[in-house]
Amino acid sequence: MRVFICGFGTVGQGFCEVLAARRQFLIDRYGEPVTVVGAMDSKTYAYNPNGFDPLELVSVKQGTGRVGTETYQDSVEVLSGAEFDILVEVSPTDVKTGGAGLRNIEYALGNGKDVITVNKGPLALKFRHLIDLAESNGCCLRFEGSVGGAMPIINLCRDNLAGERIESIRGIFNGTCNFILSKMDTGQPFEQVLKEAQQMGYAETDPTNDIEGYDSACKVVILANAVFGRDVTFNDVRITGITSITEDAISLAASHNMVIRLIGEVSESKLEVGPRLVPRGHPLGISGTLNTAQILSDLAGPVTVTGRGAGRIETASAILSDLISIMDERARRR
Ligand code: HSE
Repeated sequence: MRVFICGFGTVGQGFCEVLAARRQFLIDRYGEPVTVVGAMDSKTYAYNPNGFDPLELVSVKQGTGRVGTETYQDSVEVLSGAEFDILVEVSPTDVKTGGAGLRNIEYALGNGKDVITVNKGPLALKFRHLIDLAESNGCCLRFEGSVGGAMPIINLCRDNLAGERIESIRGIFNGTCNFILSKMDTGQPFEQVLKEAQQMGYAETDPTNDIEGYDSACKVVILANAVFGRDVTFNDVRITGITSITEDAISLAASHNMVIRLIGEVSESKLEVGPRLVPRGHPLGISGTLNTAQILSDLAGPVTVTGRGAGRIETASAILSDLISIMDERARRR
C-alpha cells in the first residue's frame, strides 16, 4: 500500500514514526507493507516510487528543515506526477478557504485515491462535496483525528453505535481553551496561560482560532455532518469564544461549585460553541488539555469518551486507525 503524505509538520512526522513502530503489525495483518512513497511540506517534496524509510524522512526534515530537495509551486501538480493509493492530508488548516489541503483532497478523491485527513478547514467548509466526490469515485474519506485527536468519536459513532439513534453530542473539543480555563480556575491570568499553551505547542499557529472558538466550531460541524447526516458548514455555527471570560466570572462560578468550560453542542437542530457553566465533578468539567465528549443515544444512554485532543503521536494514532479501517475495507472488497 503506497501512501503520500501532504504536510510534514508535527502530525506528518508523527505518522511516519507510528508507521515505523507498526510496520510489522501491518505486514502481519495485510500481508504487505505500508510504504511512504512521497512527502511534501510547505515548500519542498520527496518522491520515490520504491518508498522511503519513514524515520529517515523525519530525520531529514529535522536536520534541514525540509523534507525533500525538490521545490514546487503547486501541490496538485506534484500529486498528479506521483503514483500512490492513499493520500494522508495533514497540511496546516485554513478555515477561510480550505487552502491547499482542500485542493489536495479534491485531486486525490477525484482520481480514485482514498484519503485520510485531520485537516479541519476542508471538512468544515466542503464536507458534503467531499463525501459526494468520494462516493462517486468509489473511494474512502476518513477523518477520525480531525475531532478530538486520539479520542475516538467519529468511528465510535459510525461503527460501535451504528444501531443507535444519537440524540446529541456535547463536548470539549479544544485543549487550548480547556487548559486556559482550568488554569484560570486556580487564579492564573488569561494572557499568561495562553502563552504557556503556545509554548506547549497545543495552540493553533494563530491562537485566535482556539480562543475565539473557531477550532471547536470546525469540529462541531464535522460531527454534525458525519454523525447526524446534516449538511452544514462553519458559517452555520453559533460561536462564542472565551476571550470575554473574566476572572470575576470564574470566581462567581466557583462560589456555586461550578466551572466554566467551552462546550460544543450538536444535535439535529443545534450547532453551537460557547462557554457554559458545568457542575464540578461532571464529566464535562475536566481540567487540562484533554478533550471529552458525551454522546447521548436512545438505547445506550450517555456514553462519555475522553482523550488527548492533540499531539504528535496521539493524532497519528487516529490516522493509523483510519488507515486500518481503509485497509480492512479494501481487504473485504477483494
Ligand atoms: N489547537 C487545537 C487544540 C489542536 O487546542 O485542541 C487540535 O485541533
